[in-house]
Amino acid sequence: MPDANILGIESSCDETGAAVVRSGQRILSNVVASQIATHQPYGGVVPELASREHLRAIVPVVRQALAEAGQTYESVDAIAVTQGPGLAGALLVGISYAKALAFALDKPLIAVNHIEGHIHAVLLEQRKIEQRKSGDGGLDFPVLALVVSGGHTHLYLARLQENLWSYRNIGHTRDDAAGEAFDKVAKLLGLGYPGGPIVDRLAPHGDAHAVKFQTSQIKHADRRDFKQGNRHQEDRQLQAEEDGPRFDFSYSGIKTAVLRYVETQELKPAIEARRQALAEIEEPTLEDFLRLTDGQTLNLVASFQRSMVTDLVMKTLAAAREYEVRTLFVSGGVAANRELRATFEREAGIEGLPVFFPSHALSTDNAAMIAAAAYPKFLRQEFVAMDFCADAGMRLR
Ligand code: KG4
Ligand code: ZN
Repeated sequence: MPDANILGIESSCDETGAAVVRSGQRILSNVVASQIATHQPYGGVVPELASREHLRAIVPVVRQALAEAGQTYESVDAIAVTQGPGLAGALLVGISYAKALAFALDKPLIAVNHIEGHIHAVLLEQRKIEQRKSGDGGLDFPVLALVVSGGHTHLYLARLQENLWSYRNIGHTRDDAAGEAFDKVAKLLGLGYPGGPIVDRLAPHGDAHAVKFQTSQIKHADRRDFKQGNRHQEDRQLQAEEDGPRFDFSYSGIKTAVLRYVETQELKPAIEARRQALAEIEEPTLEDFLRLTDGQTLNLVASFQRSMVTDLVMKTLAAAREYEVRTLFVSGGVAANRELRATFEREAGIEGLPVFFPSHALSTDNAAMIAAAAYPKFLRQEFVAMDFCADAGMRLR
């Protein structure tokens, strides 16, 4: 197989990323400019601000990625960019720049689905582990991939045939993504943004059995897919392809349950005091958070996380049994969660199912995963024309 250095560009949400990856395996550089500080005051990503920040960052981030990789615009073999899903205005910044580079440099252009990128982030890490063990990086198929982030909670069955990866969705969230639930609960408790990392760090300091949460059991079909006029031709076709047991998620209920707990336990004054105190600290440390969070709230945080983790792990393992998969991948921002990783390792281990995660840096949005996912497409010469568009609601197949 020919070696290829692919420049990847990612701008689907609130991180501007550029990376150079050799032949889908070796990360030569991986630069991420985070916009957390820009969105922090609003407690969530503001789409217009995201586009503006991408515009500011894209040129220096790409330059830095090339320099760190010891590459130039001329020396890379192809340019890969995230086509979707994501924020339309944010995607457009990366796509316009990638098109301009490909056109000016006369390089092939590859469009990558962001979710496929998250799945390939696991492959990057898994190959490293296999190579360290002097194995060949071979994988047992079918693979079941849980992609769990601020925008997505999806289960995909993945197969590989002659460099062609194909995916079948067997579960998705009916409402909030898991990362969104972490972010909204943290905001509700005055803990700031993004919520996942801080909940992760605080949870071990509380009692996870203190508050009981009901997790959703979904029995009825997803009516959204059948609505008339709702891209319905495409949806029906997909539904037909996707027949078989489904393992959907729902996380808006637990968020409401936390809100109700806050109201009935009259936690609001303490939350407001914490919000103000944290706003005055430039970079709060874990000690600051612990000093400002009472025991009851720590118990609430721990119980919330335990409930989220249990639901994600148990549904994924039920799907793995049903579809008799041989390997499990867990990726996306929430895959950085320590309790989630430990629980997956323990529970999948009991069933003898190997489970792989990306490294911490590759869990959240980055461009190395985009450049890696582009390599099989490069080998198959699956290039896009200059008039290809961003697809904010892009599906993965
Ligand atoms: O993959 P990502 O960077 O962006 C999207 O595609 O959404 O994921 C960001 C999400 C946020 O919701 C963030 O709170 C969550 O991942 N997250 C975590 C952790 N680190 C990031 N959630 C739980 N535990 C973590 N350690
Ligand atoms: Zn993502």
